[in-house]
Amino acid sequence: MTDEVSFLLNGAPVRVSDQPATRTLLDWLREDRGLTGTKEGCNEGDCGACTVIVTDADGSKAVNGCIQFLPHLHGKAVRTVEGISGPGGEMHPVQAAMVDHHGSQCGFCTPGFIASMAAAHTNGDTAFDDVLAGNLCRCTGYAPIIRAAEAAAAHPVPDWMQTDRDAVAALQTARMPIAPQTADTLAAWYADNPDATLIAGATDVGLWVTKALRDLAPMAFLNQCADLQGIEDTPGGLRLGAMVTFTDLLPVMAERHPSFAELLRRFASVQVRNAATIGGNIANGSPIGDSPPALIALDAQLHLRKGDARRTIPLEAFFLDYGKQDRAPGEFVEAITIPDQPDRLRCYKLSKRFDQDISAICGCLSVTVEGGTVTAARLAYGGMAGIPKRATHVEAALVGQPWTEASVRAAMAAYSQDFTPLSDMRASAAYRLETAANMLLRYFHEDQGVAANVLEVNP
Ligand SMILES: Cc1cc2nc3c(=O)[nH]c(=O)nc-3n(C[C@H](O)[C@H](O)[C@H](O)COP(=O)(O)OP(=O)(O)OC[C@H]3O[C@@H](n4cnc5c(N)ncnc54)[C@H](O)[C@@H]3O)c2cc1C
Ligand code: FES
Ligand code: FES
Repeated sequence: MTDEVSFLLNGAPVRVSDQPATRTLLDWLREDRGLTGTKEGCNEGDCGACTVIVTDADGSKAVNGCIQFLPHLHGKAVRTVEGISGPGGEMHPVQAAMVDHHGSQCGFCTPGFIASMAAAHTNGDTAFDDVLAGNLCRCTGYAPIIRAAEAAAAHPVPDWMQTDRDAVAALQTARMPIAPQTADTLAAWYADNPDATLIAGATDVGLWVTKALRDLAPMAFLNQCADLQGIEDTPGGLRLGAMVTFTDLLPVMAERHPSFAELLRRFASVQVRNAATIGGNIANGSPIGDSPPALIALDAQLHLRKGDARRTIPLEAFFLDYGKQDRAPGEFVEAITIPDQPDRLRCYKLSKRFDQDISAICGCLSVTVEGGTVTAARLAYGGMAGIPKRATHVEAALVGQPWTEASVRAAMAAYSQDFTPLSDMRASAAYRLETAANMLLRYFHEDQGVAANVLEVNP
């Protein structure tokens, strides 16, 4: 059972206790509060039917209620579709525009769309293809919905949508022991409870509950640890706290490594990026996580902590084998540091769907060229082995060679020494090997100024 969780629900304070700590917001809204406007489609973060708006001191964000546990909401404000219309029943501009532009047919997806659109409207975000990539509509088609979002953007944010931020600041909350407030408290507790489950954004862990029906106790929520959330410039480079979300990271990478930012724009959806953390993307040990190849190509360092003992290792050394990482019981990811460097990074994600899909292959390449000769190369791939892995034979074949198409093509032969990929539902082994090698050729052509991005070639 969870401690008392306090938050605002459609403007009114609520206190929830005696609930399992892994009770999802969606189930609680529908089953306990009768707020059935928020729908359940997939129950795994894919469809957006369960989207609600969550506001804290940082602002308002769309999140998937199906994979948010109640303790995630502590000290925040939740607005469901029932609270997006005004107190007197006035329609929000996005609701009125959806009516005017025929943006709904069966209506099942519509509350989720309204929540995503209203969050974007509040934030002045008009990149509607991105805003709505995490909302699936089976019958209306996206054109009328995008037209509605565009039309609504001309209208001001209603007063009732602007009250949550101040109200959250005034909200009285008690501490929840299940959610340590500092990394020190977490470290001491986890060292004593090494079999516990750590819960960050729950975009992986949520599915262990909704799909695998797993009992996660004992567990600790990391979302109240403010000292795990910062992004700071340090002498060693840019230090990212483990709880930095991909939404926080994206604008920072847009400044430093824009191709990484573009990869993050295609990482899941706005709703998932608002919750998913960089620490979770590394600690889950997935061979197809999108951030590890980029971070390995950037020579990122991983900061691990157990109790008071800290150690730092190259990120690539963390991934030992499929499902096996260099992390001791009771040890957790505290931060990641990306060394400062000239931007030579290009990230290429191949997936069956352009948006909101897991990578079949993700290649992140950084080649340093001085005086026309390759002096360093870091070519890191996801989806090519049981772990995120560098193509070290290809790197060796490139270094010391002139930076020409002939040397690139010669080095491409070495990919089969580095990787023996699997065939699975996402791609065949042969496709993986060929496209991984072609990513190097694409990198070379882009470096020569040739447009090779599908969005540039066919805007
Ligand atoms: C619809 C959908 C789409 C997705 N698309 C993508 C995608 O495009 N690319 C991609 O890479 N991933 C994708 N994912 C997977 C997921 O979003 C990421 O792996 C995410 O980064 C996990 O972070 P989290 O904070 O949600 O972790 P959680 O789910 O909270 O935790 C994940 C794992 O890490 C552990 N953990 C978390 N934080 C720490 C820490 N600080 N120290 C030690 N252990 C820790 C947890 O115990 C758990 O084992 C998708 C998921 C969903 C549901
Ligand atoms: S029900 Fe599909 S994303 Fe939550
Ligand atoms: S209106 Fe039917 S699924 Fe979108």
